[in-house]
Amino acid sequence: MYKSIYTIEKGKVKEVLIQSSDKIACGVETFFFPVNSRRGLKVFADKRNARNSFRRQKKAAKHGLAPKVLSDGIFEVMLPMGFDSLLKGARDKHEDLMDMLEGERLYGYYTQIIKMVKDQYDYTEKEEKDLIKALYKLFPDVSLDDVHEENVGRINGKLVMVDFGDESAS
Ligand SMILES: Nc1ncnc2c1ncn2[C@@H]1O[C@H](COP(=O)(O)OP(=O)(O)OP(=O)(O)O)[C@@H](O)[C@H]1O
Ligand SMILES: [Mg+2]
Repeated sequence: MYKSIYTIEKGKVKEVLIQSSDKIACGVETFFFPVNSRRGLKVFADKRNARNSFRRQKKAAKHGLAPKVLSDGIFEVMLPMGFDSLLKGARDKHEDLMDMLEGERLYGYYTQIIKMVKDQYDYTEKEEKDLIKALYKLFPDVSLDDVHEENVGRINGKLVMVDFGDESAS
């Protein structure tokens, strides 16, 4: 079943249809809504965090270390009334995030969907080290070293980072 989310992109309200709720993922600071098989909408409660994540991910993607960003910048996101029923499982797991989201303005951007790794045995220690080293070289001031199965995936076989939020970058 599809559900709608609304975005305000370049001053225009757009309806975005989100794929079935079992495909919605969430972390501590982000909701991730798949729009189709290639494109997802990454949503933050905090505008600055959304912008920081967008910028870092865009830069990392240019160096082959992250999924592409698929919008020019961040934009406002509105979840419809009663959206939390859409996030059933997520509610218990991430009560804090849900509280933060309710009645708030949200901000997000589109990103390429990649295949996430399933568990920590899906990548080698060397791959982990190489990714951390490459990210450190690009972002010497932030430590993007939070490599674990919910933060990394593969593009053409190469291990890349999906999580560029402030929580992971502090
Ligand atoms: N580009 C992507 N392709 C596929 N899935 C993604 C992508 N980006 C995010 N996800 C999914 O969304 C989840 C949350 O994303 P992310 O790790 O960026 O959020 P977070 O709130 O910063 O996480 P954390 O809890 O580690 O701080 C990921 O674990 C993953 O399942
Ligand atoms: Mg994460």
